[in-house]
Amino acid sequence: MRTTTTRSRTRLRLAGALAAVLVGAGIATGPTAQAEGKPQTLADLAQKHGRYYGSATDNPELVDEPYKAILGSEFDQITPGNGMKWYATEPQQGVFDWSKGDEIVNLARANHQKVRGHTLVWHSQLPDWLTGRDWTATELRAVLKKHIQAEVRHYKGKIYAWDVVNEAFNEDGTYRETIFYKTLGPGYIADALRWAHQADPKAKLYLNDYNVETIGPKSDAYYKLAKELKAQGVPLHGFGLQAHLALQYGYPTTLEDNLRRFSRLGLDTALTEVDVRMYLPADETKLATQAEWYRDLTDACLAVRRCVGITLWDYTDKYSWIPAFFEGEGAALPWDEQLAPKPAYFAIREALK
Ligand code: XIL
Repeated sequence: MRTTTTRSRTRLRLAGALAAVLVGAGIATGPTAQAEGKPQTLADLAQKHGRYYGSATDNPELVDEPYKAILGSEFDQITPGNGMKWYATEPQQGVFDWSKGDEIVNLARANHQKVRGHTLVWHSQLPDWLTGRDWTATELRAVLKKHIQAEVRHYKGKIYAWDVVNEAFNEDGTYRETIFYKTLGPGYIADALRWAHQADPKAKLYLNDYNVETIGPKSDAYYKLAKELKAQGVPLHGFGLQAHLALQYGYPTTLEDNLRRFSRLGLDTALTEVDVRMYLPADETKLATQAEWYRDLTDACLAVRRCVGITLWDYTDKYSWIPAFFEGEGAALPWDEQLAPKPAYFAIREALK
């Protein structure tokens, strides 16, 4: 481990808590405390490197005031966890509902945060009207174009970057046989990017996927596709690596090199949905390893010039998607279920300092 020991970290935290009590009581705690003013947030620290530090959030969580306070202060970017997906935004064909996405965008405005739009084209969380029948290529093309352009136009000027196509490849680097691929062929990706670009020429357009952190068949497929799209002049600006990591699979040690090869294609990269899950119960050893991983992935992004930022897939275990989707796993985020920072939080800070 190249971190501080758990004991010194605990001591630091206790010192911080004591300082907070003293400051609260109007007692200055030395020259550093006076000079620093209020403690810096992850966003403050990331901005010094020209990066953002973000979190996903979801509409039902926004009634939780303590949760909202940290979301609004610690981060300078947010992503709607569900509110901009197709099932939410076009629940009936041609009938659009922007209420959930708008709520997130308005919150971001109030807190001076960037928004990543997630996601325009994906095989999952589609409305029943779309999946419940067959479409000809001509029909589906029109449906897809209308959906993309209505959504991107509605949020024009308010979205920093769009995940235009999400999860287009299988693990072996072949195209995922989605309704879009099967009906339209692989050209649907370039079309989606072009349509989105027409609707908001200033938004950064991304392809986004999981298990693409290491160099391997799946990230190779993206590398090849990105190169072709760039050569054809298709408006592609970034590659999003979800980074849903799991302790049992090992740390993706080629992450930094992988980010760098995409940068060299002239693309931005971002870690878009970070979490580091583990089998429950969590213990001190697992949480220490998790902290190292958070530090290492933050280091990797900082080491690559065009890695523009990092987004946690929500910031607290209280609202993590992991327990519901991976049986027996959880504790994946830097804040625990009581909204208290875990070792991972302090490790991210160390990386950003
Ligand atoms: C997840 C949400 O967090 C859950 O609330 C929802 O039930 C399922 O989707 N990859 C993605 C995200 O691109 O959209 C997924 O979000 C997590 C995996």
